[in-house]
Amino acid sequence: MKKIDLSTNINGIKLSLCIMNASGALCCTYKDLYNLLNSSSGAIVTKSCTKNPRIGNLSPRYIEWNIGSINSMGLPNLGIDFYLDFFRKKKNNKPVFLSISGLSIKENYFLIKKASSSSNIDALEINLSCPNIIENNEILGYNFNYVSKFLENIFKFNNDKPIGLKLPPYFNNIHIEIMSSIISKFPISFITCINSLPYGLVIDSYKESTVIFPNNGIGGIGGKIIKPFALSNIFNFYSILKNKVSIIGCGGITSGKDIFDHILCGATAVQIGTEFVNKGVVIFDKLKKEFTKFLLKKGYSSLDEFRGNLKQISSKL
Ligand code: DHB
Repeated sequence: MKKIDLSTNINGIKLSLCIMNASGALCCTYKDLYNLLNSSSGAIVTKSCTKNPRIGNLSPRYIEWNIGSINSMGLPNLGIDFYLDFFRKKKNNKPVFLSISGLSIKENYFLIKKASSSSNIDALEINLSCPNIIENNEILGYNFNYVSKFLENIFKFNNDKPIGLKLPPYFNNIHIEIMSSIISKFPISFITCINSLPYGLVIDSYKESTVIFPNNGIGGIGGKIIKPFALSNIFNFYSILKNKVSIIGCGGITSGKDIFDHILCGATAVQIGTEFVNKGVVIFDKLKKEFTKFLLKKGYSSLDEFRGNLKQISSKL
């Protein structure tokens, strides 16, 4: 049988499989990370961490329905020291991405400095897109001045670890152009597109109520329903950044074909959020099998043969 190579290279970070978890999905506790270490995922991303542990928002704070999920977790995490300690003590067989989401600019600098000098962390994924921290009162990735100044400062002191940015979805191509021009000024290794769609409201018609408790029931939307938004962001960023900055696709993947679609639009690797929470670590084997089968059917044997090759449908007169 033809050999299918599902390995990838995120700007120098090598993964034997291009599929990993999304930050926030079953990657918070010791047990979560232990399970991920022993799973067939190609890399591990941690829950976004803060300086101090946080218990997060009151439950119910995460709900799935047939085509999506809504969450307002409120950044529950065990604090940066726990994550650095975990990976210091464990032998890693795959790359580790530490996700960072400080509650203030100062806290972000503190976290990045701390992680930059830590062993066994391969890269930082800086979260510029958490929708659920009310104190921040805006999604950082939508404030271009903030992002610009923030990156300028970070690269004054970080020159050790590859840095990536987890971005919110953009709904206007001019915003993708502005963000790309900012990103191009710095040695950013990768961007992860997209975080959950902010500020959705899911309701229960029968109970006439919200389905999650925090923030009046409003939260970030993930799962199948957001895949078209993930693809448009990946495609538009890829058409500007090409291979200078790797793109990790995230949003709405539930099958091997979905992975193909993300890569066809320009992604170098993919992350699984809602579907991983739904199925657990077995999802990585399932997706790997489905993706292999799909590539066999298409006659491809590696990602490089089709990455970013999305064609425009021809027009009809
Ligand atoms: C949370 C949600 C996010 O989408 C994110 O990027 C970080 C944190 C949360 O509510 O915990």
